[in-house]
Amino acid sequence: MELINVKYKVKDFTAYVTINRPKALNALNIDVIAELKTVFEHIEADDGVTGVILTGEGEKAFVAGADIAQMKDMTALESRAMAAAAHKVMNSIEECSKPVIAAINGFALGGGCELAMACDIRIASETARMGQPEVNLGIIPGFGGTQRLPRLVGKGMAKYLILTAGMIDAAEAYRIGLVQKVAAPSELIAECEKVLAAINQKGPFAVKLAKKAINNGLEADQKSALNNEIELFSLTFATDEQEEGMAAFLEKRAADFKSKK
Ligand code: CAA
Repeated sequence: MELINVKYKVKDFTAYVTINRPKALNALNIDVIAELKTVFEHIEADDGVTGVILTGEGEKAFVAGADIAQMKDMTALESRAMAAAAHKVMNSIEECSKPVIAAINGFALGGGCELAMACDIRIASETARMGQPEVNLGIIPGFGGTQRLPRLVGKGMAKYLILTAGMIDAAEAYRIGLVQKVAAPSELIAECEKVLAAINQKGPFAVKLAKKAINNGLEADQKSALNNEIELFSLTFATDEQEEGMAAFLEKRAADFKSKK
């Protein structure tokens, strides 16, 4: 994998993906989007990765948005191609079979907020600032913000944030449910690792199916979504994980899912 704008390392089964354009506050240009695509394809195929932490290089920004300098002179067709490529990446993160945690270490604006929202769980540093400021630039959110933000915080709050282009701090992001935890800057990555470690204790197939049931269900009508849940729930009964999890409970011991893989 040849990467210039994204750093990638794997340690203890966790993939650390870091957007690496700190001079431009890690703004997403076409190259970053292409590299993220490569990285998440790699993660999906790598059995040596069980979870992902996505963050931005430096202390100031997670990602301050799509690259305004690159977009400034784009034609409508060029902007469409950029948005379509970004949507593919966001979808691949949302649908990744492994849990993905956004470690929001500073500004997460526009495309940055959208990238964080494609992750399963968002943990923000106390210094984080989030928002969808696109209308300031005469455009609208284009990497998923008009859809993922209302699904996370509700229609009214999403409209409030998008139409006013307001920027909120970590405490407010937590209050409205946009992030699930807030950590001191020095504790941010450790906090993400703790959450991943907790998830890794669980049955990996069950975790995968739970994510799928939530993702699939939110895009369907409730009746189909509930039917889908029945199918995925019953599928877990065809696994060693279910046998081990229930036997462990009844035998009053910790479940050992690892040896059942
Ligand atoms: N694109 C390109 N460059 C960016 C950028 C972006 N989104 N955000 C910051 N930068 C660059 C700045 O131009 C500046 O570069 P130079 O040093 O070469 O001048 C550098 O990063 C540092 O930024 P600032 O000097 O502006 O830093 P600051 O501390 O004064 O302000 C900030 C920080 C409030 C985040 C401010 O940079 C800002 O408002 N950035 C733009 C935020 C934004 O509008 N994001 C939405 C983009 S559009 C989008 O994302 C559309 C979509 O949905 C896909």
